[in-house]
Amino acid sequence: MISRRSLLQAAALAASIPLLPARLLATPIVGFTHSVASGDPQQTSIVLWSRYVGLTGAAELRLELARDPGFTAIVSRGTALSSPATDYCVHARVEDLQPGRWYFYRFVAPGGEISPIGRTRTLPADPLNRFRIGVFSCANATSGWFNAYGHAAARNDLDLLVHLGDYIYESPVDRSDALEALALARRIQPSGEAIQLADYRLRYASYRADPDLLELHRHYPMINIWDDHEIANNAWQHGASNHDEGEGTWADRKAAAMQAFREWVPMGTAPYSHYQIGDLATLFRIETRLVGRTQQLRLADALAGRSDVSAAVREFQTGPLASPDRTMMGAVQEEWLADGMVQSVQSGTRWQVLAQQVIMAPTRLPNVTQEWFAPGTVLDDEQQGQLATAEALSRLGLPLGLDRWDGYPAARDRLLNAAVRANAELVVLSGDSHNAWAYELVHGGQPAGVELAVQGVSSLGLEKRFGGDPRAIAAGFVEANPALKWCDTSQRGYMVLDMSPAGLTNEWLFLPSRSEQSLQVLGGHRVAISRGARRLEAI
Ligand SMILES: [Fe+2]
Repeated sequence: MISRRSLLQAAALAASIPLLPARLLATPIVGFTHSVASGDPQQTSIVLWSRYVGLTGAAELRLELARDPGFTAIVSRGTALSSPATDYCVHARVEDLQPGRWYFYRFVAPGGEISPIGRTRTLPADPLNRFRIGVFSCANATSGWFNAYGHAAARNDLDLLVHLGDYIYESPVDRSDALEALALARRIQPSGEAIQLADYRLRYASYRADPDLLELHRHYPMINIWDDHEIANNAWQHGASNHDEGEGTWADRKAAAMQAFREWVPMGTAPYSHYQIGDLATLFRIETRLVGRTQQLRLADALAGRSDVSAAVREFQTGPLASPDRTMMGAVQEEWLADGMVQSVQSGTRWQVLAQQVIMAPTRLPNVTQEWFAPGTVLDDEQQGQLATAEALSRLGLPLGLDRWDGYPAARDRLLNAAVRANAELVVLSGDSHNAWAYELVHGGQPAGVELAVQGVSSLGLEKRFGGDPRAIAAGFVEANPALKWCDTSQRGYMVLDMSPAGLTNEWLFLPSRSEQSLQVLGGHRVAISRGARRLEAI
């Protein structure tokens, strides 16, 4: 229940910040507060979402879904409950729809108030010549504008959106890389780290107030995958690097984060699932954080008290790092995916697309040259020492990060082995790194598929640490990593995966984020993949 006093307080707060752009103040605090959204599409069903705050607590809304935006041909009617128990978020899965169709939907409140009209689409069921997916990850609201969302919302040629995680960040607003003006303009709440249910709910409410994100959801269905920051940094099955005992139990925090995700994001409750896109692709949405991930290894533990670093690293690589017991997905999900890839290939489906969180291909740090730093940069002794250590460990064969699949090499081998055995045309989509990467995946010396990793919508990438010439940095990474064919380590944006039976193209689009609110595309990069090749072609 919202009291008259809190309404007045909220109104007074809004009135006290006069310098905000008008469109950032558009989010109402009663009524339909966050527009509409849709997600988790199947061939004959879809989840529709809105949020309605009534003045008297719970309210029963009417839902209408039509073939046309004028609602002259309504094909489905229903009801959905808005309640404080779900933070006033409303979900409805509408069934018995036609495959591959665009639909329009709206909610109607008891007093007759009507929500914005949303547009959505079911997955196609028939033989299919083309399907385009917009792919996003890592949108820290205090790091930059959501121009990537705005650009995708304004185009009309996508069929589906996939968000690979870090849709919100649980971290405090006053991070070192936060732009003060953005934090003020967006009024991200709470200001501290999100820990309790009320915190996560407020965090979603303030992220979702962004007009570009609202429009994106209103125009397209989205498949959302959580990564770690929807819960806590570097989450694994039983904890996270950013969770300590003073913050309560991990079980409570995980439950709070998951409840807020399920309230605010139009998805079903299955932690992993698959989506059949005509005969063109099976998209597997996998879960690599909470279901079965073993704790990340820490190299510092392996090196503690050791003077013979090379030997210690070798023991680490052949011992704990190589252990087959380490999993990203857990045994049950691994088997589900392996079986799913076999069934997809046997059904004649052309592509097997894996939508998941962290980078899969082996990646190590190259030797860092002066060009990696902005002219005039002088490293102090400590920084030079850290860099020299990182380079030396990389030369010994250690990867750039142990939170990625590189920290779970046996699990990666099992997944790629399953893909090769299934004769899958594997396309792995990854987020998390904040930068753009194109890899060829190899297993047992044979091409196993490709990996397309999307740059962040706004979260800062490697340029935060290496502010020099991005071309020199990219050349260094490509030279040092045989699987890597191209990368960009300095720009924000999103990708569009354009699928047809004979081949795919993937385009990374670069937009400004930190510097300005703008939908101007600054550049891009495209690759092609021919069916059967499992290799990247420059175009
Ligand atoms: Fe991220």
